[in-house]
Amino acid sequence: MSQIDIFSLEGRVALISGGGGAIGSALATALAGAGARVTVVDITDERAEAAAAKIRETGAEVLALRADVTNEADCERIVAATVERHGRLDIIVNAVGGGAGKVLFNAEDYPRDAWDWIMELNVRSTLLATQAAVRAMIAGGRGGRVLNISSVRASLGINAGYSAYVAAKGAISSLTRQWATEWAKHGITVNAIAPTFVDTPQVAMLLDDPAFKAGIVSRIPLGRVGGTNDLVGAALFFCSDASSFVTGQILGIDGGLTATQ
Ligand SMILES: NC(=O)c1ccc[n+]([C@@H]2O[C@H](COP(=O)([O-])OP(=O)(O)OC[C@H]3O[C@@H](n4cnc5c(N)ncnc54)[C@H](O)[C@@H]3O)[C@@H](O)[C@H]2O)c1
Repeated sequence: MSQIDIFSLEGRVALISGGGGAIGSALATALAGAGARVTVVDITDERAEAAAAKIRETGAEVLALRADVTNEADCERIVAATVERHGRLDIIVNAVGGGAGKVLFNAEDYPRDAWDWIMELNVRSTLLATQAAVRAMIAGGRGGRVLNISSVRASLGINAGYSAYVAAKGAISSLTRQWATEWAKHGITVNAIAPTFVDTPQVAMLLDDPAFKAGIVSRIPLGRVGGTNDLVGAALFFCSDASSFVTGQILGIDGGLTATQ
């Protein structure tokens, strides 16, 4: 056995919530590439199927499911279907979220419907999918891995109408530490990655503005925004045996942005 095998996911089963999205599909592909059998979940069949088809081409075993992970019954269903198809569940990656750029409002007038939508999309989605997955992990008795996606916005304010998003990502980071503490006794680790801007369709409109992009890039020591591939190494670390003694951590993947604050 070589040292690199501590990153292997052979024999493991991973559910990627939001696996049809930009970051979710990149992480699902990476986990499958490391040997995991995966379930790709998205709110549309098309997105789930498209991501699953690409993974299937590599020869990996993949199940595609449509579900709304803000709905408890849907979360129960995708976990049960995963266990039925793959025989177990070891890893959940929560990649549903975002929306910040669509609802920018001054903090003093932040509308309640926009607030509720961002909280639902980011926090409720992570909460319900994780609860269902972790109940299965506890029942399986083999421990497990939870990987959340927070953001640099969990710890950095921004002079633009981001109130709900910073609150939602702050909640994700706090839940990461809380769950790590509660579920350690079951051998389940809980960690999060906290990226700065990742070049994806969700932020394309912002990054297409050269002045906005130049402003962002000028504050990032490594001099560029992220790509989905920049998240892969951390995801493999947190989802594998390589991170066996690491839990409750939020890793900035931000080209050094938070180091400058
Ligand atoms: N893109 C960035 O710059 C960036 C930076 C930091 C953090 N993040 C975070 O990364 C995560 C993923 O972002 P992304 O850019 O890949 O977004 P994305 O929109 O490409 O992916 C999200 C996926 O979730 C699916 N989805 C939405 N609601 C759902 C629901 N209720 N049930 C099931 N699936 C649902 C969408 O259809 C989509 O495929 C988000 O939490 C986001 O906040 C993104």
